[in-house]
Amino acid sequence: METTTATDPAETQTGAAQLIIRDLHARIEDKEILRGVNLTVSQGETHALMGPNGSGKSTLANVIMGHPRYEVTQGEVLFNGINLLDLSPDKRARLGVFLAFQYPSSVPGVTVANFLRRAVEARREGFDPNASGEPTGQAPKRKGMPPAEFRKLLTEKMKILKVDNTFITRYINEGFSGGEKKRAEILQMAMLEPRLAILDETDSGLDIDALRVVSDGVNALRGPNLGVLIITHYQRILNYITPDVVHVMSHGRIIKTGGPDFAMELEQKGYEWLLKEAGEEVPEEE
Ligand SMILES: Nc1ncnc2c1ncn2[C@@H]1O[C@H](COP(=O)(O)OP(=O)(O)OP(=O)(O)O)[C@@H](O)[C@H]1O
Ligand SMILES: [Mg+2]
Repeated sequence: METTTATDPAETQTGAAQLIIRDLHARIEDKEILRGVNLTVSQGETHALMGPNGSGKSTLANVIMGHPRYEVTQGEVLFNGINLLDLSPDKRARLGVFLAFQYPSSVPGVTVANFLRRAVEARREGFDPNASGEPTGQAPKRKGMPPAEFRKLLTEKMKILKVDNTFITRYINEGFSGGEKKRAEILQMAMLEPRLAILDETDSGLDIDALRVVSDGVNALRGPNLGVLIITHYQRILNYITPDVVHVMSHGRIIKTGGPDFAMELEQKGYEWLLKEAGEEVPEEE
């Protein structure tokens, strides 16, 4: 297993888990989608990632998590000094990287409770990149979490997220409404206690009350041990989850980065001026 030790001064100074992305290029089939992404998210920080449809935001999230359809052609993704690109998605998850999907899939036959239990067990087992001989994708050695402990944790998190009891005995996302799917993603996040959470448009499809509950849930998890990357089109969620940094992506690159007020400015002014400023192609009005 090849690991890379990052030499980023910020990382060695704080020792905090950090996501460092350098000059990341990725493609799907012959189409280059990410064209040189640079981004650093430290533990304790919340970053928002915005940008027009099709600019590569979900692609970036998928590449960080290790989706097999995307081919990384250049650059690196380090998490706490470990080269994520060398690891299978399950190992990335066990290290504490979490992605709430833009379009969560349903998994008929697997209940939310069973899934969460296995996922929490795997997450707790963690992953030691220096340990050898662990085949990729293998189910974790069952460390077994006492049922009472699991139930207590689940009840606690369900309460915070105002999740109905019947939810967890249903199959994952099967017949869930759009908002319920998003809430189920955040329940997973709450249970897994990640160190880096990427939320891909978790706010879309949520009504105002659900948005508040989900935001409260995310805020309850925020702290010095969690880095958050929120992908969104709307400033609205950022009223509840205040970002430290706001980035705009266009054509597979981050073209501008600003503070929390930048999201408000974007809401008012749109992206066109930015695209022009960055010398990017501006889509024709229809
Ligand atoms: N599986 C795929 N096959 C072909 N093209 C793809 C695939 N996945 C992504 N793309 C293309 O990559 C580009 C970036 O897509 P991506 O989903 O990352 O954009 P996005 O910024 O998340 O957009 P949105 O705001 O609409 O969610 C798009 O042009 C998309 O069509
Ligand atoms: Mg997307």
